[in-house]
Amino acid sequence: MSNKYMKTRALYQRAKQVIPYGVHSNFRYGGEETVIIARGKGGHVWDVDGNEFIDYRLAFGPVILGHADERVTARVTAALQSGNLYAHTHPMEVTVAERMVRMCPGLDMVRFANSGTEATMHAIRLARAHTGRDVILKFQGCYHGFQDYTLWSTAGSPASAAGSARSLIPMQSGSGIPRAIRDLVLVAPFNDPEALERIVKARWGDIAAIIIEPIMGNSASVMPEPGFLEFVRAQCDAHGIVMIMDEVKTGFRIGNGGATEYFGVQGHLMTYAKAMANGFPIAAFGGCKEVMSTLVPYEVSIGGTYCGNLVGAAAADATLEIMETTPVLAQIASYGEKLKRGLSDIMTEAGIEHAMVGPAAMPGFIVGTSKQPKNFRDVTNSDLGLYAKIAKGMFERGVEYEDDPREPFFLCAAHNDSDLGNTLERFNDAVRAVRP
Ligand SMILES: Cc1ncc(COP(=O)(O)O)c(C=O)c1O
Repeated sequence: MSNKYMKTRALYQRAKQVIPYGVHSNFRYGGEETVIIARGKGGHVWDVDGNEFIDYRLAFGPVILGHADERVTARVTAALQSGNLYAHTHPMEVTVAERMVRMCPGLDMVRFANSGTEATMHAIRLARAHTGRDVILKFQGCYHGFQDYTLWSTAGSPASAAGSARSLIPMQSGSGIPRAIRDLVLVAPFNDPEALERIVKARWGDIAAIIIEPIMGNSASVMPEPGFLEFVRAQCDAHGIVMIMDEVKTGFRIGNGGATEYFGVQGHLMTYAKAMANGFPIAAFGGCKEVMSTLVPYEVSIGGTYCGNLVGAAAADATLEIMETTPVLAQIASYGEKLKRGLSDIMTEAGIEHAMVGPAAMPGFIVGTSKQPKNFRDVTNSDLGLYAKIAKGMFERGVEYEDDPREPFFLCAAHNDSDLGNTLERFNDAVRAVRP
């Protein structure tokens, strides 16, 4: 056992006695090397042994301003002095909703939830209520949270068992998801208008919603090809289907108005979480008045004890105000462009075939091929082993990003030039150490 991680390993042994596999969310599990973080500040985190990492995971994306941002902490602390939760609406929920409606194109009305999973669950229920149909169409490799209806053919399901791209087989992401739900789920390949059109033509009368990550934030940040999102929207409009744009990763990250602003295409409904509150628990779904008006109390069951709680609402109030009034995302994008260029140059010099993927605020890359991936299969056909080796080398050198290309890098406003220099220098070392 390396001394460097002695306390981490010991704490993990304790954790797994009382928490299955020592983690409260499966995605944090790293076997016997599961990481335990004691604190974070800005773009850095420290594990319980005091090892410091430049953090490009940022809690899977939410930490957009940086860890422990004092402005957000102050707003939350002040708000909590007079309570957190009531059986009624709090003024701050109204202020935050008004700000979101102002910032996000296509968002006429919004309801709060507590996690991305809840937001997509509510959006799907509303789409079903609005259309009177039951089936959901999703894209292979897209992830929309832990609920039964979307945990099909995510990045965790092997592409090799998914059948032909012409007729993808929906695959449960693990046990515990009822087989009966398969009849309510259709899966299409991303960036394939013909395949989508074929499915919709055959089944449109059953389809309540097409749910899509506008950028495949759970598959290396694969971008939609020009016209693809527009095509999805047009199919929905033509067949009375609700388009749910899942902005849980892209919202308040690739633009103040998320992907709807970035690509100029709106869903009928959008879902938000992550960057909305710099890591505090709040989420939202909303969209056009026509669909949101179907949400009538007691006619459509949507709500939750903690929806709109003040911890989340105050954090969102501060985070979104900072975004609306300062060029946070422009700064992140500028850092991201330099990072992408630097990583790419180093791999080129080292003779590693690669393709840089995704927008500057959540970039990804794949190795072993220089072909730009257009769907989940392309990502899984890259050299996952080499990618993981480089990522492991980076972790050992104090830079953390996911060891699987499916999860992109996440950047925050607190990453600075010194972080950039250190990241590139260490990347150069890590690449040279494992070069094939
Ligand atoms: C696109 C997308 N939708 C939904 C979710 C689920 O969000 P949460 O983990 O907050 O439930 C995630 C989580 O990573 C996501 O990436």
